[in-house]
Amino acid sequence: MTETVLLVGGGGREHAVARSLADSDAELYACAGNRNPGIARLAAGFETLETTNPTAVTAYAREVDATLAVVGPEAPLDAGVADALDDAGVYAFGPQQAEARIETDKAFQRRFMKRHDIQGCPDFETFEDMEAACEYVDEYDGDLAIKPAGLTGGKGVRVIGDQVTAEEGKAYIRESGYDRIVLEERLIGEEFTIQAFVANGQVRVTPAVQDHKRAYEGDEGPNTGGMGSYSDGGLELPFMSREDYEDAVAVLEATVDALEGYKGVLYGQFMLTDEGPKVVEFNARFGDPEAMNTLPVLNTDFLDVLVAAREGESLPKLSFDPKATVCKYAVPAGYPTEPEAGTKVTVDEDSAAAAADDADGEAILFYASVDEREDGVYTTTSRAFAVVGVAESITTAEGIAEDALALAGEEGLRIRHDIGKPDLVQKRIDHMAELRGD
Ligand code: AMP
Ligand code: GLY
Repeated sequence: MTETVLLVGGGGREHAVARSLADSDAELYACAGNRNPGIARLAAGFETLETTNPTAVTAYAREVDATLAVVGPEAPLDAGVADALDDAGVYAFGPQQAEARIETDKAFQRRFMKRHDIQGCPDFETFEDMEAACEYVDEYDGDLAIKPAGLTGGKGVRVIGDQVTAEEGKAYIRESGYDRIVLEERLIGEEFTIQAFVANGQVRVTPAVQDHKRAYEGDEGPNTGGMGSYSDGGLELPFMSREDYEDAVAVLEATVDALEGYKGVLYGQFMLTDEGPKVVEFNARFGDPEAMNTLPVLNTDFLDVLVAAREGESLPKLSFDPKATVCKYAVPAGYPTEPEAGTKVTVDEDSAAAAADDADGEAILFYASVDEREDGVYTTTSRAFAVVGVAESITTAEGIAEDALALAGEEGLRIRHDIGKPDLVQKRIDHMAELRGD
């Protein structure tokens, strides 16, 4: 039977999902707030709608006779879109609202880890009284991370001793108007992500990826949704060991056991510290950009995973092309603080692909928060498009991504050129060696 899959969301992550399903025996329909030209081209139908409106999404799912759904972003999960699809008889690969709290409520997330005695939970306290939180900052022996409990698109956290001083941190707590925050021990180390496909109590993990949250080169500037990311040819990254990877996987497995009935992607953001991996956060979905590193090297048919999940069967074992990947985002000038929307985007995908062939690798373009209008494709205020290089080594993949970006042109856009370059990767290795006293 041909499956009809509804994809919810119109970013780079969802373009990667669409591309991954394009090779399967699936008819794809998509809905998003923006018309993503990359997804629209791969889909039999594309509906522009408010993806946080469960009624609108289920109405479209019914209209196209969807047999499965993949929910990409966190906002629809938080709005109960997976619940509504499940209720409408369309199996949603994505957690229901209650399970998505592992991402959408950071206070819940930390208490959950503590209650279930899951490894890797930093010291934390949760606050509803902001003056009490400020007193805690004054009394705490060490630096703290200040985290709003709700969703902030990755832009709400302030780390004392890194981005802000204690005084600035307290001013942020008082002035930002959050009603609940988490204060937790500042973790020091190197961050990495592991994404797992989860259903029927099973956990199928994918290679580790390192994202770059800071807006500017050299890890400077404000946090963003993620400026780019890389993965290596194996499961771990150059600054970590296989044991570190396995320790992080054990945390994901313990979390899935404790969650009971979780389905969809569970994304672990870890800090590799001198004591091993600690949990920075969980996400209830693929990462963006990390999905663009992972899905292009997934050899297993994504549709087989979705069907097994729905049927209550054992999930297929995953196999990956042993290739490194480097993903770089082009974002609107001024992003994330004062993004300038409305720049026309012209990307020559064919030349980029040909250039990569010459370099013995692959270049893939993913459109993100752009909007396709009658006279062309325009930037919005969010990340515009990404290029992923896939090759034997991180260095070769990085070169391919850069060549493809050069063909795309940079006018009105900004790119972190340092992501995946040998210097920055070496800096990560040296940082970890120094922390571990090697
Ligand atoms: P989040 O929104 O939880 O992903 O946090 C955004 C970023 O803030 C993370 O990717 C980290 O770089 C940083 N961060 C969050 N929590 C901590 C922590 N406890 N210690 C140090 N950095 C943190
Ligand atoms: N890359 C971080 C995220 O998807 O939340």
